[in-house]
Amino acid sequence: MRDIADPLALIDDLLEILVVPSFTRAGFAVRRRLFDWASAESSSMVGRTVVITGPTSGLGREVAGSFARMGARIVLVGRDAARLERTAAELRRRTPGVPIGTFVADMSSLASVRAATDRMLAGEPRIDVIVDNAGAMFADRQVTSEGFERTFATLVLGPFVLIARLLPRLVESPDARIVAVSSGGMYTQALPLDDLSFERGTYDGPRAYARAKRAQVALIREWARRLCHRGIVANAMHPGWANTPGLEASLPGFRDRVGGLLRTPAEGADTTVWLAAADQAREATGQVFLDRRPRPFDRVPSTRLSPSDRQRLWSLILAMTGEPDPTA
Ligand SMILES: NC(=O)c1ccc[n+]([C@@H]2O[C@H](COP(=O)([O-])OP(=O)(O)OC[C@H]3O[C@@H](n4cnc5c(N)ncnc54)[C@H](OP(=O)(O)O)[C@@H]3O)[C@@H](O)[C@H]2O)c1
Repeated sequence: MRDIADPLALIDDLLEILVVPSFTRAGFAVRRRLFDWASAESSSMVGRTVVITGPTSGLGREVAGSFARMGARIVLVGRDAARLERTAAELRRRTPGVPIGTFVADMSSLASVRAATDRMLAGEPRIDVIVDNAGAMFADRQVTSEGFERTFATLVLGPFVLIARLLPRLVESPDARIVAVSSGGMYTQALPLDDLSFERGTYDGPRAYARAKRAQVALIREWARRLCHRGIVANAMHPGWANTPGLEASLPGFRDRVGGLLRTPAEGADTTVWLAAADQAREATGQVFLDRRPRPFDRVPSTRLSPSDRQRLWSLILAMTGEPDPTA
């Protein structure tokens, strides 16, 4: 329950109810002033290693730039070797001396993610933070060569295997964190546990994406519950609507409709950086954040997943990926 005597929280809650002002840069600007935020980059990341998926564009590139300026070792995970090297070169140019590792992995391929995590475990003696940021939306239903629907494979199965396989390193960190970049789109869809691969009904890209983002948040809640006794904090966030190549590709024309109100990539990435770095962000686990504050998991009761639903999802993911339970 919010303290009703806290007028700042009340204004923030009112913004949250009104989706458009909350998701646009207006919401970011109001909250930054309301809560008098310090820059997310004011925390030091010196000596810490951050693994970031999807660092070659949009929000991920912004997050990588922040961590470089904050002194972290950054481990970039991307599907295209040339784009990955271009991103690393740009980061080195802007932040001379920044330690960078690069690993090729297509998040839609479990084999590719497994090969990359093997290389990471061999080459990275320390991992403190995993930022699960890579994402895409697909207009048509596609099935990967491993037999999975591509949206679910990219946003849910690949990241699950990445986190599961890197867990032995993460548990060794004194301040380990997992941050999943979800989407406010998740509020629009329930997750049918008996149809995770969207085999029933007519496939629809935004619906498949929203379902997968809901699954991602449900899994973060499970990671948080299963890992809290090992000192690992796991949270999801959603960036609102930020002006990135991915937004334009996923929702053509949306940028024109929202006009100058879209967030900048830095504004969209702010809460990811804060969740990974700020001392205060260790106080919550298993939450979904927007603009540095926990938000509801649902806007309508019909999308709610009970604790047993979430445990069932966890079991289904283990069965689909063939991973042993990493938290057992
Ligand atoms: N922008 C927004 O307003 C918004 C809103 C809600 C949620 N999000 C979420 O924020 C995250 C970042 O999105 P963005 O807007 O920054 O999009 P973006 O500019 O398209 O960047 C997406 C990143 O994910 C990578 N990626 C996509 N598919 C991949 C795969 N199969 N394997 C490995 N990497 C893959 C891309 O790599 P390539 O460079 O190789 O393509 C790119 O680095 C996504 O999870 C997205 O769903 C964004």
